[in-house]
Amino acid sequence: MEPSTPHVRVAVLGASGFAGGELVRLLDAHPFADVTFLGAHGSVGTTLGEIHPNLASLALAAEILREPVTADVAGEADVAFCSLPHGASAELAPGLLETDVKVIDLAGDFRLPASAYPDWYGFEHPAADWLGKAVYGLPELFGEQLPGAQLVANPGCFPTPVILGLSPLLSAGLVEPGPIHVDGKTGLSGAGRTASDAASFAASEESVRPYRVPRHQHTPEMERGLELATGFTPAVVFVPHLVPAVRGVVTTAYAPLASGATTEAMTACLKEAYEGRAFVRVLAPGEMVDSKRTRGSNVVELQIVADARTGTAIVIGALDNLVKGAAGQAVQNFNLVHGMDEAVGLPTLAVYP
Ligand SMILES: NC(=O)c1ccc[n+]([C@@H]2O[C@H](COP(=O)([O-])OP(=O)(O)OC[C@H]3O[C@@H](n4cnc5c(N)ncnc54)[C@H](OP(=O)(O)O)[C@@H]3O)[C@@H](O)[C@H]2O)c1
Repeated sequence: MEPSTPHVRVAVLGASGFAGGELVRLLDAHPFADVTFLGAHGSVGTTLGEIHPNLASLALAAEILREPVTADVAGEADVAFCSLPHGASAELAPGLLETDVKVIDLAGDFRLPASAYPDWYGFEHPAADWLGKAVYGLPELFGEQLPGAQLVANPGCFPTPVILGLSPLLSAGLVEPGPIHVDGKTGLSGAGRTASDAASFAASEESVRPYRVPRHQHTPEMERGLELATGFTPAVVFVPHLVPAVRGVVTTAYAPLASGATTEAMTACLKEAYEGRAFVRVLAPGEMVDSKRTRGSNVVELQIVADARTGTAIVIGALDNLVKGAAGQAVQNFNLVHGMDEAVGLPTLAVYP
C-alpha cells in the first residue's frame, strides 16, 4: 500500500478486554487503519479510557463502548477484529461475513474442523460452513493465503511458537513425526481481564500451577497447524502452567530427534526458514529465550537444542501472549490481508526490563 491508500475502517469487538485493549493501542498508531467501532458486552456505555487507563491520552479514549449489533458494525467498518470469548465469535462473525465485512478472529472459533468443537470447546459449531473458508493466520507459514482473505483465524498464543519452531524441522527431516510433548508457561493476562479466584494475586503469587491437563484446547490446534504446515500429523501432549507473571508465554517442545541431527543444523534450518521475517528471532546455539525480551513487541524468540544422549529435539519459544500471541499477530494478518508489508504499525522492540 502507498501512503495515499485510503484507510481501512476497523471495528474492535471486545475492546474492553485485554487483547482488545492491545488491538486499540496498536491500531491507533497504524498508518492505514481507522478504528471506527468499539464493541463490548458488560461494559457497554462506559468509555474506552475508563476501562483502559493506559489508553487515556488517545482521542479514542472518550469513545463509548457499544453492543456489537451486526448492522451497526457492518455500516461503520470494513474489518472486524473479534476479540471475544470462545463461542461468541462463532455466533457474531457469520452475520458480519455475510455483509462482506472481513473478520479476524482472536478466539479459537475458526481454527479447527467442526467435529473438534464439542470435545475441545464444549459447543456445536453454529457456523460450520465458514470453517473451510477460514485462513489459519500464522503469517510466517501461511502468509500466501492471506491477501484478500475474508476470514482469518488468528492462532492461539501457545500454538504460535510450537508450530513455528517445529514445522521447518519436521519438513527438513531433522525431527521425526513421532509424539511431541509440550510444556507451556503463561502469565495471568492469558486468562483475560475478568479476574477469577484462581487468577487472583493471592492464589497466583509464588505459585506455578498446571491446568486443563490433558484437555487444553490448544492441543488439537498444535496438531492441526503442524499438519497444515508439514503434512505430518504428530500426536501432541500439552501441559500448560500458570506462572506469577502478567505477560509472557514460554513453550518447550520435546520431539524425536532424527539420527545425526545437531543443534547447529536445526538452528541453521530455522534461520533459513525465517530469513527476512520481521518477527521471528532464531537464537544462536548456547543462547536461551526469555519471554521478558519480547514484552510489548510482536517478536517470537525460538531456540533449538539437540540432546543426542536421549535422542530428543528440544524446541523452545517465547512471546508476549497479548502481542505476537494475540493482538500483534492479528494486526500482522490485517496487514497481509490488505497487501501491506506485514510489519506496518507493529513494534519489534520490547519494553525491558
Ligand atoms: N489474553 C490472551 O493472552 C489471549 C491470547 C490469545 C488469544 N486470546 C483470545 O482472545 C479473546 C479475548 O481474550 P481476552 O483475554 O481479551 O479476554 P477478556 O479480557 O475477558 O475480554 C473479553 C471481551 O469480550 C467481550 N465480551 C464478552 N462476552 C461477549 C459477548 N457475548 N458478546 C460480545 N462481547 C463479549 C468483553 O466485554 P465486557 O468486558 O464489556 O463484558 C470483553 O471486551 C479470547 O477468545 C481469548 O481466548 C487471548
